[in-house]
Amino acid sequence: MHYGRFDDARREYVITNPDTPMSWVNYLGTGEYCGIISNNAAGYGFHKSAKTGRLLRFRFNSVPADRPGRYLYLRDNATEDYWSATWQPCAKPLSKYKAECRHGLGYTRFLSRYAGIRTNYRVFVPVDRPLEIWEIEVENATKRPRDLSLFAYAEWCFWDMNQDLSNFQYILYTCRMAFADDTVDYSIRLWPFSEPKGFLASTLPVASFDTDRDAFLGQYRDEGRPKAVEAGRCTGSIAVGGNPCGAVENRLALAPGEKRRACFIVGVGDARTVGQECRRKYADPAAVEAEFARVRQYWAERLAAYSAKTPSAEVDSMVNVWNQYQCHTTFNWSRSASFNEAGGRDGLGFRDSTQDTLGVVHAIPARVRARLVDLLKAQHAAGSAMHGVQPLTWRQGPHNVERWIFSDDHLWPVIAVTAYLKETGDLAFLDEVVPFADAGEASVYDHLARALEFSWSKRGPHGVCLGLAADWNDCLNLRGQGESLFSTFLFYRGLVEMTALAERLGRAADAEHFEAYRAELKANVDRHAWDGEWFLRGFLDSGRPLGGKASDQAKIFINSQTWAVLSGAADPAKALACMDSLHKHLATEHGVVKNWPAFRDHDAEIGAITSFPPGLKENAGIFCHANTWAVVAEGMLGRGDHAMRLYRAFLPAAKNDAADVYTMEPYVYSQFITGKEHPSKFGRARNSWLTGTASWAFVAISQYILGVRADYDGLAISPAIPSEWDGFEVTRRFRGATYRIKVKNPKHVCAGVRRVKVDGKWIDGNIVPPAPEGATVKAEVVLGAM
Ligand code: GLC
Repeated sequence: MHYGRFDDARREYVITNPDTPMSWVNYLGTGEYCGIISNNAAGYGFHKSAKTGRLLRFRFNSVPADRPGRYLYLRDNATEDYWSATWQPCAKPLSKYKAECRHGLGYTRFLSRYAGIRTNYRVFVPVDRPLEIWEIEVENATKRPRDLSLFAYAEWCFWDMNQDLSNFQYILYTCRMAFADDTVDYSIRLWPFSEPKGFLASTLPVASFDTDRDAFLGQYRDEGRPKAVEAGRCTGSIAVGGNPCGAVENRLALAPGEKRRACFIVGVGDARTVGQECRRKYADPAAVEAEFARVRQYWAERLAAYSAKTPSAEVDSMVNVWNQYQCHTTFNWSRSASFNEAGGRDGLGFRDSTQDTLGVVHAIPARVRARLVDLLKAQHAAGSAMHGVQPLTWRQGPHNVERWIFSDDHLWPVIAVTAYLKETGDLAFLDEVVPFADAGEASVYDHLARALEFSWSKRGPHGVCLGLAADWNDCLNLRGQGESLFSTFLFYRGLVEMTALAERLGRAADAEHFEAYRAELKANVDRHAWDGEWFLRGFLDSGRPLGGKASDQAKIFINSQTWAVLSGAADPAKALACMDSLHKHLATEHGVVKNWPAFRDHDAEIGAITSFPPGLKENAGIFCHANTWAVVAEGMLGRGDHAMRLYRAFLPAAKNDAADVYTMEPYVYSQFITGKEHPSKFGRARNSWLTGTASWAFVAISQYILGVRADYDGLAISPAIPSEWDGFEVTRRFRGATYRIKVKNPKHVCAGVRRVKVDGKWIDGNIVPPAPEGATVKAEVVLGAM
């Protein structure tokens, strides 16, 4: 079944069949307010914190799916028939109801046609105001006059989502609703002493209203059959306690062919002041258009930093629009809230947020710098890091040293900070002094150096890194003397990066010191971690190897092959052999599974990974984040055909025509795809949007397949593309200049730069030097053997 298509010219994904296998959602808002909206207008909204600032309610993982939402109902007062401006919740038969949903960058638009009435409903959040604008145009497409009622409906959440979901004996007796001047006033007092406020304002006169959910919907009914809409009139209910809602009715008498606009504002603030100001302001369509133009500009600016033209339409849709959009969305909202992450946790996940910077550093380096400082504040003086960090409420002190220390968290800043330095050339950042989470402070450079020292100090019996609470794989909980090859390779890559940086800074002693660590680590890896055709994943507390031919479960894991290559720790022959083993044992048409065979037995020495059924999540699922590293590894090896095959296997756009198998949005990455050992759902995706896959997939395609990488001395060009490609183009901002890079592939090779011409002159090597700010640089690259 086909549900939609990409409209790249408008940077929209168009859903033409609303009966999608899962909710296909979009994110609204870029500042303090976030709205999540599905292709049927379901979803929720929050201010600042998904945990404590929840304005609009959503029932997660519920039946029916996708409730409640930003619902607009229409009622024909002559026939008494009613429907919604989105297919759900009224769900008229699709033979009679035509629907189109256009998810765009920061907005969603719904078009409908039913009973001779056309609607065009747009929802967005202004860039700097905590409110949602719901604007609808209703058109009478018949030749007779129509008497319509238009109802807007929102269900309020009690701000603190954990209370909202559990503490009913208290929370159901807190709200104090009111209505005045065409505006619903959502007021509440919460213990201890907070009085958050919200409103729903109508720019057209309100004919009737409800503020009590039960009065509007009716007991034993649902959003698809609200009692008030059925009756053609709200009851004027004022909820004092109970479940509050905002419901208002506008009357629209439409002559044949006539169009009317209505606009509702759902926002944070006092109904009497902010609500009234909004109601007056946004009554003027030009004011709404001005806000909308700013949203468009926000996204246009961000996406202008990078674009590519390749022979593949799927690659272009993803790399030019959706992958970048997802990277920024993930950067903005970290892992706080989605349709599968209910948002009851707050703050930034240390490793996740650190990696998120990699996907946006080319576009918003100043914001990345600030984020890196926030994250470094969560590093302990000992070099390790907190697993989660709360930049809004951060306070230094020993309380920040938790019992559980992960073996990878603190190492990600080495990757992220050096990526920032290469992108910007801002080496002065290294001297900035940043406090530690527990006590003291140090320069950014010393933060990174301490991270390396911490890993060095936490090595096990084989001289490689201990697994500690877990490594990147949260579910690999190797206890005691258990060791992780993933963290070892990440550490190795950190040592390589820091050696290069120290040399550049003239810190020869440091460079030598890190280099000595690297050499010893390499010797230990070579001595203990090679299993003949691939690398082990680690060692258990008891000394048993994790992975390897001799194991009956999980003989081979993806991460230790890919990171053996990414780190540079694998010698060339081993690098090729381990990736060949990955292709042989782990690769499938839907992506590379995390391990094979799946764990079937619980094993306390290995951890939570062994509790998932085979093929799900980290147990032999296709973890998309980890798949991006396989693409990077093949890119580094110059095997462009392999890189593209791996990239395409989990590329959402490539699933567009197989949506009934894939089920999730074909325009953004999901966390994982069900693996081949699952009995029935191989190829089904889950947990979309806020995943580390976004940033690393962008790194993989832009830096390792298309092969344009920021480096200290310029833009390094080193593509690894499918041999059938004739070439491609990349336009990219770099340190304030614009680079137009045209790559030709006359010999149909996968990799190997033959020559590079910059502004008409051949250069030595493959690094295009930085140009003055504002300049436009033209580079022509020819692939093929020298
Ligand atoms: C989840 C976590 C991430 C972890 C990954 C693998 O995506 O957010 O931190 O690396 O799972 O376990």
